[in-house]
Amino acid sequence: MSRIVVLTGAGVSAESGLGTFRDKGGLWTRYDLSEVATPEGFARNPRLVHDFYNARRANALDASPNAAHVALARLADRYTGGVTLVTQNIDDLHERGGARDVIHMHGEITRALCAVCETRWDAPRVMDPADTCPACGARATRPDIVWFGEMPYHMERIVAAIEAAELFVAIGTSGEVYPAAGFVDIAAASGAETLEINLEPTPVPGRFDRVIAGPATQAVPDWVETLLREV
Ligand code: APR
Repeated sequence: MSRIVVLTGAGVSAESGLGTFRDKGGLWTRYDLSEVATPEGFARNPRLVHDFYNARRANALDASPNAAHVALARLADRYTGGVTLVTQNIDDLHERGGARDVIHMHGEITRALCAVCETRWDAPRVMDPADTCPACGARATRPDIVWFGEMPYHMERIVAAIEAAELFVAIGTSGEVYPAAGFVDIAAASGAETLEINLEPTPVPGRFDRVIAGPATQAVPDWVETLLREV
């Protein structure tokens, strides 16, 4: 088991040009999430949902990893106590920044899923409601994204890692969406130290033992280099 568990959110990809959700101008200030990020919305209007994720897929594929993604990959490579990297993000910037075995608890924009037989495959750049599943042929393809009301992926593995960790670090997440928002409480209850790295500390004082405020591309590399110097 790793001694460090890192949870990232949209803030770690913000400086790569990918929008966050709840900041000023964030995605959920411009779209009705019930229309584009729920199974009911997809059933009502698959074209709208595919268009929404086609735009996000294009943005993600055209974006580049930033210094925070690279620093976290370096931490996972160099920190001998082991690092488990969990992300709420659906982009692949952690992987393109060099990270391996990233746990995508909300799915991946680069993957497609058949709503009938649950086969998964690499998503094409543009998905369409008329696409058929390569395995069962059903016209029921969807982005392999966890929508509101659906169970996030890899929860058992994530909770086990947090319960065994000595340090839990939340980076660039507003801590507003469960179950990810509750991970800090599991870590604290298991005796881990907790650290938040965020542009602005989340409003709940005392939720984390320590808070580092600043943009991820500066705060994360600084924190990683300091940690690697200490070990
Ligand atoms: N550096 C560090 N943190 C930043 C930066 C930055 N450059 N820019 C923004 N942030 C922080 C904001 O202060 C905020 O706390 O990133 C956080 C973004 O919060 P949200 O927009 O709520 O994104 P996130 O926490 O990832 O949302 C969680 O909600 O809608 C669902 O599935 C979606 O995975 C998403 C989940």
